[in-house]
Amino acid sequence: MLEHYMGQDEGTRLTRTGHGRLEQLRTRELLTRHLPAAPARVLDIGGGTGVHAAWLVAQGYNVHLIDPVPIHVERAREHHGVTAAEGDARNLVQDDASADAVLLLGPLYHLVERADRLTALREAHRVLRPGGIVAVAAITRYMALLTYCADGELNADRLRRLLPTLSTGRYDPSLDFTDAYFHHPEELATELRQGGFEDVRVFGVEGPGWTAVDAAGADGGRLMDSALLCARALEEDPAMLSANAHLLAVGRRLTSRRDGARRYVGSLQKHPETDPR
Ligand SMILES: C[S@@+](CC[C@H](N)C(=O)[O-])C[C@H]1O[C@@H](n2cnc3c(N)ncnc32)[C@H](O)[C@@H]1O
Repeated sequence: MLEHYMGQDEGTRLTRTGHGRLEQLRTRELLTRHLPAAPARVLDIGGGTGVHAAWLVAQGYNVHLIDPVPIHVERAREHHGVTAAEGDARNLVQDDASADAVLLLGPLYHLVERADRLTALREAHRVLRPGGIVAVAAITRYMALLTYCADGELNADRLRRLLPTLSTGRYDPSLDFTDAYFHHPEELATELRQGGFEDVRVFGVEGPGWTAVDAAGADGGRLMDSALLCARALEEDPAMLSANAHLLAVGRRLTSRRDGARRYVGSLQKHPETDPR
């Protein structure tokens, strides 16, 4: 992973292509909808060079970024108002209940073992205050196959190396990128619930129009308005979620035990067949 990020400019990933711009725009509109109002304490875990952190600071948020790649942390610190430190999503130094919102926009696809992803989610849950919000990005299972296809670069050899990813989720880093894990939408929701989160919702980020934007290359801007309308219209359509390149899952840490008990009773009233008594 370190090698991958040393060899590419993560700081311009979301602005140098039409697909990147679509991802950035949609990620930000989803965050705007779900984050608590500013000022609030946001922990941006896997925040890279601080692209989203700087944008959040400009909105009045208090943002601390954590990333394991030293050059990312250095770049993030250059943004006015962003504090940053090297660290790992699986083992945070932050105190319990010390953040109003946690962003995990990267670590989950870099953590290829399920146990590591759950550890990262439980750490996010621990540092969130009761009632706080987590936003988690994932790459969809079909993203690499669709990218090669959209770019006209799918051939028999690449297809052979991509097919195992569809059943295991593990990406073959000999293709490009780095060792990574690609999610199915319901699997992402389950991981958030097992990490302790409630009210979990999974959104498609770019919508199915992203392949057309990708294929159009430098001309992709022409398609942006249509792609955006399509992404918004289908953002929670379960049949279309896997047609996105990225997913954004949002969850909440329960406010109190009483809140949990109330929800449990409510769910029994809705689904009495699940009552264990
Ligand atoms: C593609 S970048 C995304 C950067 C930014 N959050 C964004 O949405 O544009 C993924 C980031 O996750 C970071 N990362 C990978 N594994 C991590 C881990 N175990 N803990 C924290 N961050 C991690 C990488 O260093 C990288 O900066």
